[in-house]
Amino acid sequence: MSSGRDANGGHAGPLRHGPEQLVSPTAGTAPWDTWRRHEALQQPTYPDVDALGRVTSQLRGQPPLVFAGEVDDLRQWLGAASRGDAFVLTGGDCAETFAESTADHLRLKIQTLLQMSVVLTYGASLPVVKIGRIAGQYAKPRSSDMETRDGVTLPSYRGDAVNSFEFTPQARAPKPERLMETYHHAASTLNLIRAFTKGGYADLRLVHHWNRGFTSNPAYARYESLAEEIHRAVKFMEAAGADFDSLREVDLYSSHEALLLEYESAMTRIDSRTGLPYDTSGHFLWVGERTRDIDGAHIELLARVRNPIGVKLGPTTSVEQMLALMERLNPDGEEGRLTFITRMGADKIGDALPPLLAAAKADGRPVTWMTDPMHGNTITSSNGYKTRRFETIMDEVKGFFEAHDDVGTVPGGIHVELTGDDVTEVIGGSEKLDEDGLRHRYETLVDPRLNHQQSLEMAFQVAQYLSRSHG
Ligand code: PEP
Ligand code: CO
Repeated sequence: MSSGRDANGGHAGPLRHGPEQLVSPTAGTAPWDTWRRHEALQQPTYPDVDALGRVTSQLRGQPPLVFAGEVDDLRQWLGAASRGDAFVLTGGDCAETFAESTADHLRLKIQTLLQMSVVLTYGASLPVVKIGRIAGQYAKPRSSDMETRDGVTLPSYRGDAVNSFEFTPQARAPKPERLMETYHHAASTLNLIRAFTKGGYADLRLVHHWNRGFTSNPAYARYESLAEEIHRAVKFMEAAGADFDSLREVDLYSSHEALLLEYESAMTRIDSRTGLPYDTSGHFLWVGERTRDIDGAHIELLARVRNPIGVKLGPTTSVEQMLALMERLNPDGEEGRLTFITRMGADKIGDALPPLLAAAKADGRPVTWMTDPMHGNTITSSNGYKTRRFETIMDEVKGFFEAHDDVGTVPGGIHVELTGDDVTEVIGGSEKLDEDGLRHRYETLVDPRLNHQQSLEMAFQVAQYLSRSHG
């Protein structure tokens, strides 16, 4: 956090770090390869093991996707969020796909995150740390290894990093070459993110231009008047001679679930400045609810890299499990190192979260607490869609703020599945999307996402909770 704040309350930074030397040891000899001795859940079974070895050794020779200095900056920002000096907004697809890694889709998604961030920053007067589930979120854990349709059983779709969604034996066979495609899609996506966030597009003076909705929609109307206020404030400051270079650029960090251990370990490099390993596939990596076993391979790998790490905690998490994760992932109590992303379900959060918060508070080592109000609230509509209800999602967010308020801990951020497109995947919200409406634009391959206006609506609501809790 050494430089000034940027337009959306972040700070101008990542590109000032040179590509420090990040060195890749050969396969099997790296200090972080210890994960191979632990049980690895949710890994694809590759029919061609030799091909897997070839691809991972190629990956080891590829340049890093993110730099160690950027990762360190984000860790410090997450530390600020753990103290209540910043708030984290994480958003993006449940599963990114190669086909939708286009400039248009990415622009709308980035724009949505920037708009939400402006709403939160302005509403709560807090710096907002922006993290995308972007440029790496191509692999999914599944509840079942196999899927059966009309009597035919094939491997489940595990994300474009593993196999293809189409229901044919050829498409569903896991292919190691997809790990290299993952790398290339992540690289081109990061390139676009850097261009959008550093190239003038994210300039706070353009807040008006980001509004693309009809003002008959309440969220868009509210955004329009907020943009007008910001516009006038900026004009006033400019007229008064203030220097606005810091409004021109924002930092948008990249995150994904560190699911595929062969990929994550192949992307891990030793940073020449510090001699420490960084997973250079993304800035922030998290372990999912299904793979967070303290003795499992995922925790083993992430315990050994310097990145800030998240762990999803569902409603069955015990205090002992949580404390063991703190001890394993952040023994020295470094600020910003460990984030717990709680996904309890709106009906459970009131009972399930406070004991965890109280135990972490008593432990004393810092935790950055984020709410994922999506994954505990998935339902099937009567017409067969996997969906979520906007009002239930917001209930969990409310429960998150209330729990922190009761226990005296800090609500540090929010982690949501969203898209910049006008999809119809989540019911409810001010446009009152109903079950029948899901048919119109249901495009997700995995979980339902907030659409653009639902995302804005959420941001306005969260800004209110935030200004109350930090006010
Ligand atoms: C996800 O974030 O898409 C996900 C699968 O979450 P969880 O591990 O919390 O179920
Ligand atoms: Co999901």
